[in-house]
Amino acid sequence: MKLQNVRGTQDILPEDQKYWDFVFNVIDKSSEINGFEKINTPIIEYLDLFEKGTGENTEVVSKQMFEVSRFGNEKDDDKRIQILRPEITPGIVRSYINHNMQDWLKPIQLYSVGPCFRYEKPQAGRYRQFWQCDFESFGNEDPATDARMISMAWSLFKDLRIRNIELEINTIGCKKCRPQINDFLKSYFSKKKAILCKDCQARLATNPIRILDCKKVNCQKAAKGLPPFTKQVCDKCQDHFQQVIDYLKDAKVNFKVSNNLVRGLDYYTRTIFEISLKSDKNRQTTLLGGGRYDNLIETYGEKPTPAIGCALGIERVVSVLKKQKIKIDISEKTQVFVAQLGEEAKRKAMTILEILKTEGISARAALSKNTLKSQLKLANKLKSDYAIIIGQREILDGTVIIRSMKEGTQEVVEQETFVNKLQEKL
Ligand code: HAM
Repeated sequence: MKLQNVRGTQDILPEDQKYWDFVFNVIDKSSEINGFEKINTPIIEYLDLFEKGTGENTEVVSKQMFEVSRFGNEKDDDKRIQILRPEITPGIVRSYINHNMQDWLKPIQLYSVGPCFRYEKPQAGRYRQFWQCDFESFGNEDPATDARMISMAWSLFKDLRIRNIELEINTIGCKKCRPQINDFLKSYFSKKKAILCKDCQARLATNPIRILDCKKVNCQKAAKGLPPFTKQVCDKCQDHFQQVIDYLKDAKVNFKVSNNLVRGLDYYTRTIFEISLKSDKNRQTTLLGGGRYDNLIETYGEKPTPAIGCALGIERVVSVLKKQKIKIDISEKTQVFVAQLGEEAKRKAMTILEILKTEGISARAALSKNTLKSQLKLANKLKSDYAIIIGQREILDGTVIIRSMKEGTQEVVEQETFVNKLQEKL
């Protein structure tokens, strides 16, 4: 017998543990700051959960499932097919429904870290067992929620100090405008049918949007001249997307609208996004992907509930940390904590946060917390040197308050000069 690990799996040796700990640490801190609570759901789930949710015709469900076989237990009368989860979202949604989270105070923000399984052709960055960190937010339809989820994802990479990444966003419309988008894509791709791969020729009739996700060279070539299908979405979806764009600009998040961006899972509606290395031109090994899925809970027969989420692949992130030779410091402290009071101040806080990070100042904020007391408590817990406080009055006056967390003293400074002032102090 040859001793070997299963194809597409890997051992994480002691020398690599520090990278994993660093990533877990950044994830836990970011989750606390952004108001996400941890949830663990089983690795084994029923197949039909994913057939209904992820979509039975997606690659993930139709080709990449690991089925769990049960040996020698004739008494087991549970005949439903069990699988190893290929992603975490449907499991969290199942748990949301099973535990009546519909009745909890909204929004509900959950995160989970754990292994997933996809029967893929193993190659660099593509494994059969891999770890995801997954974030989900339920109950908020507002475009600001999309922007917050996206900017949190973007900030995660800044906290990890990963460079040369690109954030792409797009909208794929809602239930109402999808037929229109499908017609538009069908009419475009039928002219190119001859060069499409066999799978995409079939997709042309059933789910043409999926053609845009095909990694085959000819199918990508066929998609090259496609006019933006963002123009095909209904007025409400266009307005939603425009607001997401405006919020992201306010927050100084660097992003690009990619007209051909789609996602390989069926549940998405409206905003979708991906983060990858700039060098990864065809998004072969995306670091993070996500989007809105406002119809998924309804698909399982429950009351319609808007939701949005994303997941990052930990092996891929660790590999980039190593390639970019990023120095790992688990005990890294927060230099500045940005505290806000009020909706406008919250938007300003997002901008301030980005400015500080661009200036190389380690900064954090807790945009989900609404009282100053709870925010300053967290600033203390993170051992921040200074807090920037911004409320309605400061918005009107064009100022911010700089508070020394050690001494408890405060100073009001102009918004234009706060970075210089902080740099002098730090
Ligand atoms: P996904 O794009 O299928 O989305 O996967 C998310 C991330 O998992 C990818 O960006 C990648 O980093 C990692 N990943 C996926 N497959 C592999 C693989 N075979 N080997 C290594 N890493 C991999 C989802 O799974 C959605 N559930 C994300 C989401 C959450 N959408 C809404 N909420």
